[in-house]
Amino acid sequence: MSRRILSGIQPTGNLHLGNYLGAIKRWVEMQDALAPGDDALFFLADLHALTMPVVPPVLARNTVEMIAALVAAGLDPDRSILFNQARVPALSELAWLLNGTARIGWLNRMTQFKDKAGKNRESASLGLYAYPVLMAADVLLYRSTHVPVGEDQKQHLELARDIATKFNQDFGREVFTLPAPLVSEEAPRIMSLRDGSAKMSKSDPSDASRINLSDSDDTIAQKIRKAKTDAEPLPDSVDGLAERPEARNLVTIYAVLSGKKPADVLAEFAGQGFGAFKPALADLAVASLGPIRERMTRLLDDRAALEAILAKGADKARALAAPTLRAAQEAIGLQV
Ligand code: ADP
Ligand code: TRP
Repeated sequence: MSRRILSGIQPTGNLHLGNYLGAIKRWVEMQDALAPGDDALFFLADLHALTMPVVPPVLARNTVEMIAALVAAGLDPDRSILFNQARVPALSELAWLLNGTARIGWLNRMTQFKDKAGKNRESASLGLYAYPVLMAADVLLYRSTHVPVGEDQKQHLELARDIATKFNQDFGREVFTLPAPLVSEEAPRIMSLRDGSAKMSKSDPSDASRINLSDSDDTIAQKIRKAKTDAEPLPDSVDGLAERPEARNLVTIYAVLSGKKPADVLAEFAGQGFGAFKPALADLAVASLGPIRERMTRLLDDRAALEAILAKGADKARALAAPTLRAAQEAIGLQV
């Protein structure tokens, strides 16, 4: 059976190594492994970005930067459908239809809303609450079969399945395909360079905690040189990293960037200290990320080309979306 892979990322700016290794690089690998008849859709979740306060020029800039980053990282507009949500009106229409199916009780269980709304729930936007329904619409509109996401989005995908099941049952038609989450257990979680127990994140106030995709070669090397570590040499097995989160993180980064298993990285560096390991990691990171940064810079100099990529992707996405929206409207009785 042919597969339709779909995933999205919010255009939030400040893309870092965690976003690259945890999401974008995996998408590129999936694109490169597409079989004939499979499709891949990767989009910028600009409508999801409205769930938090918006600064219009920043949102616009982040969207352009994000599409440049995706293409620079290896997503190919001829093989993947690359677009932004806002250009597919059917998405917002379907999200409203799904609001009729989603239950308040289901949304009340979403842990991301609880985390993001914090104590001040009453002043959170309605969008932040309804966010998972829009995400369900993303997945269901294109009848996606495989949805690569991080652990934090798994609950939202389960909700999408619940909404699809209830809709199909309530209206007695198989309008929606049930998506399978692809929560890869190996999806790396990249940690802060300053604290091995905190996720690398754009919202960390310390810039030294993360490697940004826009960092120069020197900055990358310097951040790795200064990364927090311990005084022990590297162990000869992965078990030896259990109580050493900073060491484990650097080994993970090395492994993912080189395409090796952590055990093989340790086989190579066991017994060596960070004085030897860090320069090797810095060279590898610069060799992997430098070309992406350079491609990104060149793409950002050609706004018309980026616009053309988004326009073409949106045309394809709208074409795939139309029959599903129509089928949902017919099932509900909105098309007479
Ligand atoms: P941030 O935490 O910097 O705000 P987002 O939450 O916007 O990043 O995440 C965007 C994508 O990048 C998601 O698919 C998420 O799973 C992935 N991602 C973000 N941070 C990391 C990380 N430290 N390690 C692995 N993947 C990450
Ligand atoms: N909510 C996802 C995130 O923040 C982004 C996203 C939006 C998404 N719609 C999606 C991911 C549909 C997968 C499928 O990371």
